[in-house]
Amino acid sequence: MTLPLRAHGICFAYDGVDVLHDVDAALEPGVVTAIVGANGSGKSTLAEILAGVREPRAGRVERSGDVALVVQRAAVPEALPLTVREVAQMGTWRRRLPRREARVRAEAALGRVGLGDLARRSFHALSGGQRQRALIAQGIAQDAPVMILDEPAAGLDAESRARVRRILADEAARGRAIGWVTHDEEDIRAADRLIHLADGRRVA
Ligand SMILES: Nc1ncnc2c1ncn2[C@@H]1O[C@H](COP(=O)(O)OP(=O)(O)OP(=O)(O)O)[C@@H](O)[C@H]1O
Ligand SMILES: [Mg+2]
Repeated sequence: MTLPLRAHGICFAYDGVDVLHDVDAALEPGVVTAIVGANGSGKSTLAEILAGVREPRAGRVERSGDVALVVQRAAVPEALPLTVREVAQMGTWRRRLPRREARVRAEAALGRVGLGDLARRSFHALSGGQRQRALIAQGIAQDAPVMILDEPAAGLDAESRARVRRILADEAARGRAIGWVTHDEEDIRAADRLIHLADGRRVA
């Protein structure tokens, strides 16, 4: 089977300090893979390498298509007066869609995360959990075969976390490959597979 994303022997260093050592990873369609490990174990770095935001020092990443990366919240500066729909629609920019189609796609993504009714609100007027779902909608709107999320529910309450789990399971059920950086025990139980990092090495 050709996987949408496969990484072999990934090594990475920041300023000469090695933080990832010979990591293999794969993401499969229809499967939620949790990327777990202690603080500083290399999860965010690996997520960025898998998404192509960083280049590994050694090893390679094979991708069959685009990868949508959802970074942690606060990534939208307060100074930008964007609506919720505009934030979701930013996910379509790379595809240079006609405006109407981009808008339809953004609204569909907002519907999938339960924010359809708030599309015209200011992004900064949302609660933390709603903002995080808007950023997930931005990832969904990219319509990529792979979506990688870095702690998409960090700091949210139990109900919001459960909601994020349901959204990711739904996206996987639509055939997407999901990579999900998380610390939460319940998230880990909900995932189909694990990539467990310890000090930059894959241990499970
Ligand atoms: N920009 C950077 N410059 C230098 N070192 C960095 C940088 N970003 C991360 N590191 C170091 O790389 C290692 C891995 O960091 P990374 O952020 O990938 O870990 P993480 O598992 O995502 O941690 P957390 O759970 O705290 O988010 C850590 O030792 C960290 O201090
Ligand atoms: Mg991190």
